[in-house]
Amino acid sequence: MQITSFKQYEEDFKKSVENPEQFWGEVAQNFQWRKPWFKVLSWNFEEPNIKWFEGAKLNITENCLDRHLEKRGDQPAIIWEPNNPEEESVTLTYKMLHERVCRFANVLKRNGAKKGDRICIYMPMVPELAIAVLACARIGAVHSVIFGGFSAKSIADRINDSQCKVVITADGAYRGSKQIPLKDVIDDALIGCPTVEKCIVLTHVRTPVSMLKGRDVWWEDEVKHVNDICEAEEMDAEDMLFILYTSGSTGKPKGVVHTCGGYMVYAGYTFANVFNYQPGEVYFCTADIGWITGHSYIVYGPLSQGATSVLFEGIPTYPTPSRFWDIVEKHQVNTLYTAPTAIRSLMSYGDEPLAEKDLSSIRVLGSVGEPINEEAWHWFDEKIGKGKAPIVDTWWQTETGGIMISPIATVTPTKPSFATLPLPGIQPILVDENGQEIVGNDVMGNLCIKFPWPGMLRTTYGDHERCKQTYFSTYPNLYFTGDGCLRDQDGYYRITGRVDDVLNVSGHRIGTAEVENAINMHAGVVESAVVGYPHDVKGQGIYAFVINPEMHGEAELTKKDILQTVTRVIGAIAKPDKILFVSGLPKTRSGKIMRRILRKIAEGDTSNLGDTSTLLDPAIVDEIIEATKALK
Ligand code: WT7
Repeated sequence: MQITSFKQYEEDFKKSVENPEQFWGEVAQNFQWRKPWFKVLSWNFEEPNIKWFEGAKLNITENCLDRHLEKRGDQPAIIWEPNNPEEESVTLTYKMLHERVCRFANVLKRNGAKKGDRICIYMPMVPELAIAVLACARIGAVHSVIFGGFSAKSIADRINDSQCKVVITADGAYRGSKQIPLKDVIDDALIGCPTVEKCIVLTHVRTPVSMLKGRDVWWEDEVKHVNDICEAEEMDAEDMLFILYTSGSTGKPKGVVHTCGGYMVYAGYTFANVFNYQPGEVYFCTADIGWITGHSYIVYGPLSQGATSVLFEGIPTYPTPSRFWDIVEKHQVNTLYTAPTAIRSLMSYGDEPLAEKDLSSIRVLGSVGEPINEEAWHWFDEKIGKGKAPIVDTWWQTETGGIMISPIATVTPTKPSFATLPLPGIQPILVDENGQEIVGNDVMGNLCIKFPWPGMLRTTYGDHERCKQTYFSTYPNLYFTGDGCLRDQDGYYRITGRVDDVLNVSGHRIGTAEVENAINMHAGVVESAVVGYPHDVKGQGIYAFVINPEMHGEAELTKKDILQTVTRVIGAIAKPDKILFVSGLPKTRSGKIMRRILRKIAEGDTSNLGDTSTLLDPAIVDEIIEATKALK
């Protein structure tokens, strides 16, 4: 299933378009099924209703664990690198990982979890996080992993939306020099979560925690009560595997649903191809398992292919900005998959952190999460890859389950800041505002996908209508990505960024409405409008225009209060970088905020604000521009 030449890519691509069922049927033969499918694909994008590998039975953990035991049972599956480099790293072979997953799966059963139950996971980046994820999959429970940076309220909203029965957490997490009290946050969240019956707590930072009788149990105690034999639950290809919440243009995050068979095939196929993974190589993805990148390219993709996956607890700059390079050297990393924001941040420290670091093991580099600017691309290429490692700029989304548009390492000629070409099976099209297809090359438009692929989302949890509205209604019969895109003279794709009200801050997806709702919860705030603006390291920064006539004390203190409110409501990742107090917002006569104007102001480009004649009160624009001058 691995593509080794550009000619083969072209042939596979052609076949995948002309005969998708045959193409994916053959790809799927590379995985282990308990029972084969009777139909590869049935679909429509109207409802939408998408089914891959109908009738097939499997368990994804048999593909990620059991099937490797015979040939590579003693090969490292996971290499864990702790936050503190002074601490020992941990290697789990496939045999060990299998054993621990089975054991913890029995713990889940012992605590009442069964097939179909939803389980919330809120954990640090430790091996037990991967074990928890796989243990859920082992027993057919649906995991909903929540990134460790989200607030109690965000967690409660997500737990309640999918009625989780069990929560798996840890006492706390290390993040660089900081410590995050995960269990405290969970305790606050669970006050408002009536469906949660059990909370399993891993000891990690050894900070004191409150353990509620009847509800809370220790991971370490529980594993003593069970053995490590756990037959995998037989799952239908279209049974739910996991839910992952993500932000959109409305206030409430959506629970994106992925299913067992198609997701497994897509994550595995794309991993093997995009990174050109070779047996025995060490692969390091720097994402957190709390995001889709970690699900697909730390856990399921690599493990389904029998790879060795590095799991790093810390951050790129702790204890020094050499940390990534130390890890590369220490574990002889062959593939490094990271985000443009991390690259830009490390770039800003100059060459010193790279001095005397042996990066010669690196063979392939990857980028994900946001557009990579040319400067960062070249730095990555020259300083890290030494001009010899292909860079795969991988475009995809939580909803797509896996990489969609990307070079195939060693196969596709790359071009700085271009995601290049669609992978086999992916049929992108560009459309204009009216949904008319934009044909030919050297064009720009809104990026849509016109044919299903196995890794695509099936629904949004508990609200299928929302899935239809968000992704399949903007343009009939197309999946709309929300991204703008250009296709150059060579037919190469370059993603230009979101065209909806979604921000991308350090590769984290944040809805402007979500941030506005949070700011508006602060006492005294009457109204707010949030837009993105270009930020050197984060890609986009968050700019908030806030009407707050009842300021308590100084403006600077009120700003801090507002930041605290946003941290409480969403989490620190959604804190505005700039807050500007204004007396009004530019609105049309019908009361709609003209974000276009605010975006221009936030970008500092006020020379041409476009048509402002429809504004109710044009004077407010001048007032806001004047106010921005005082803000630095
Ligand atoms: C949005 C999806 C699945 C990747 C992690 C983020 C942006 C992602 C790229 C890229 C330009 C990119 C898009 C997309 N994005 N990768 N290589 N080049 N933009 O997943 O949180 O679901 O966000 O991230 O805007 O829509 P996500």
